[in-house]
Amino acid sequence: MKPTPLADVVCPFSHSPLDPKVQDNPWEFYAEAHASCPVVPVPEVGGVMVTKYDDVRFVLTNPDLFSSSGRGSGTKKGIQVEKAQRHEEIMRERGWGHVETLQRTDPPIHTDYRRRLNRVFTPRRVRDMTEHIDEVTNQLIDAVFERELTGGATSGQTEFVDDFAMPLPGIIIAESLGLDRSEIRRFKRWADAMLALAMRPLTEEEMIEAAEVELEAQHHLAAEFEKRRQEPTDDLISALVNSHGENDEPLSMHELQNLMHQLITGGFETTTNALNHSLWLLTRYPDVQQRLRDDTSLLPAFIEESLRFESPVQGLARRTTQDVEISGVLVPEDTMVFVRYGAANRDDEAFDDANHFNLDRVDANQHVAFGLGAHFCVGAALARQELVSGIGAWLERTTNIELARPFEGPVHEPSMFLLPMIELPLQFHV
Ligand code: HEM
Repeated sequence: MKPTPLADVVCPFSHSPLDPKVQDNPWEFYAEAHASCPVVPVPEVGGVMVTKYDDVRFVLTNPDLFSSSGRGSGTKKGIQVEKAQRHEEIMRERGWGHVETLQRTDPPIHTDYRRRLNRVFTPRRVRDMTEHIDEVTNQLIDAVFERELTGGATSGQTEFVDDFAMPLPGIIIAESLGLDRSEIRRFKRWADAMLALAMRPLTEEEMIEAAEVELEAQHHLAAEFEKRRQEPTDDLISALVNSHGENDEPLSMHELQNLMHQLITGGFETTTNALNHSLWLLTRYPDVQQRLRDDTSLLPAFIEESLRFESPVQGLARRTTQDVEISGVLVPEDTMVFVRYGAANRDDEAFDDANHFNLDRVDANQHVAFGLGAHFCVGAALARQELVSGIGAWLERTTNIELARPFEGPVHEPSMFLLPMIELPLQFHV
């Protein structure tokens, strides 16, 4: 059958995928898309959203058809072009402008960056870090208990995002990079600023503020690079600064800045969302919470099902290099393709009764929450360990965890790509 040109596709949806309400709770939208219109035009940004599991895998494993390079982001490219250009000018004038590395490149260029990172992100390195991740986890829980469990109290409250889900991955990535762990709140500000333009439309003042914070980050990092060049250490910054590519080329300052951007945003934003969602799921499914308390060997299965069910990175973008057919729709060359990991993981054709949270699902780990193919998440092993250690310790050190109060209003900050919880107020019992 002849494919339908993208321009002729009309989806019968009442909301756009750019609507903050859909971004707060995308599951109904995905179900509608799967049922009637799996390849969704997003004319506001001249793009298309791909929601089916098989289509998402097709896009991710064919970088010759779907390039990671030059894709910008929805808001950057389509809605905030002028602001993005002004932002780039500021960065070039007073810091280092954008260059494409790693996640924004295709093989074979990607392969060289990835090789340098793989050398420092080995499974062995993560295994060696497990004890330390457990230690930091317990330090953070100790601080909450000391604050809450005074005078013999057996229950307390925690704002989980701030007390735990942000600091745990924040401290671990800061220490791994070789940055001072006492400054994680400053690094979180950097990560937020680095992602600001891609997350939501910004006012002029907000754009300038984001650029200023990113400049602060760049200059701080530049000084760290210089220190490691003079005196190599055993942290990630040192490994990258002193790494050599295939032709014995060291990375340039622009490349180093861009790689740091990816590691800081990857390290700070994603695992935080995953920890929040896993804990929130425990409060919504008390039977699952009890089963995990009774049998901790179920924890890895719980983490995989939670990554599948509420994927922390909902989607990213690619760009078509030629006209290409996806599920009967002809998508023209140079179209931005929003790959929805979060939707693919809820596809009934890939996972039995996909909208049901099921701890006994045997194929949960077939999810694409960490992507697939050449760009498969470099921090996946680290993130999984942080999730097992973090959630495991909260279960071990409490007897019950529930929501301290119901949510009023949106649960998530609006974002095209992530699922960031605004807050997670919990009541725990020991
Ligand atoms: C639960 C936590 C995490 C999730 C859900 C997640 C998700 C993802 C996804 C979906 C991709 C694929 C991007 C693409 O297809 O273009 C990716 C790549 C990447 N992630 Fe993660 N990530 C997580 C944790 C981390 C951590 C802790 C780090 C840093 C230490 C990190 C650093 C990166 C980097 C640098 C890439 C680019 C890899 C490449 O292009 O070759 N991520 N991540």
